Amino acid sequence: MQLIHTIAGLREALAPHRERGFVPTMGNLHDGHLALVQQARALVGPAGTVVASIFVNRLQFAPHEDFDTYPRTLARDCALLEGAGCDIVFAPSESELYPEPQGYKVVPPAELADILEGHFRPGFFTGVCTVVHKLFNIVQPTLAVFGKKDYQQLMVIRRMVAQMALPIAIHGGETRRSEAPGSEGLALSSRNGYLSEAEKAEALRLSRALKALIARWQAGERGLAAMEADAMQALRDAGWAPDYLTLRRQHDLGPAVAGQPLVALGAARLGKTRLIDNLEAAAVS
Ligand code: PAF
Repeated sequence: MQLIHTIAGLREALAPHRERGFVPTMGNLHDGHLALVQQARALVGPAGTVVASIFVNRLQFAPHEDFDTYPRTLARDCALLEGAGCDIVFAPSESELYPEPQGYKVVPPAELADILEGHFRPGFFTGVCTVVHKLFNIVQPTLAVFGKKDYQQLMVIRRMVAQMALPIAIHGGETRRSEAPGSEGLALSSRNGYLSEAEKAEALRLSRALKALIARWQAGERGLAAMEADAMQALRDAGWAPDYLTLRRQHDLGPAVAGQPLVALGAARLGKTRLIDNLEAAAVS
């Protein structure tokens, strides 16, 4: 496995390789990321090349968020990526990727990017789309894999690739969940590292609240606003500060309607840590 820090170096290393699978990350990797790399490897086959990028992208962090403290663990990440079948790690410095302030940005449409995560993190998806588009231009992958854990991000990227006619197949990777005793089922996330052991057990309350929302819908309840308000209140009662818990259509994240595949999505702060999770659900008429 090669570790490359420059755009020129990466282009030179990739020149002989046509079939390229790409997994963009911000590092501080866990098994969920490694599963995406394994998925990219399986998709490109043994003759293809798997590239993972590690770059903590300032553009997608608001000033009050954790850009400065986001864990940078390059040596450990590289060892894990090598074990997962990655061929090339691209880890540019900030001055390599943004040699001057990034004035040109990719701004996704408001109806998809200013709701849910984008509502609570204004500008987040512009930061994500700008860096992902730039990384796509640098790596020029034939396919890229993004985790379903960031459900809205996956959707925003899919639309960007379609509207910009980028010749890249976008694949979603299933969310990996903890098997550790006490926190079985907790969606793996780099930010779980901020949680104490007690908070990890408590963190399961978020996915349970999403499950409860789906169960009520599947049992025939249709008062969506009241169901969502109850789910938020249940978290508040347990000391959380929820941003949203909601049931949406899978295909465009509009409000749930009967007869369409759904996804329950939630974001909530537990102590100082903001967690997100989602669960897909089959259509119910
Ligand atoms: O999901 C992430 O880790 C980031 O949003 C991404 C896609 C690597 C862009 O910085």
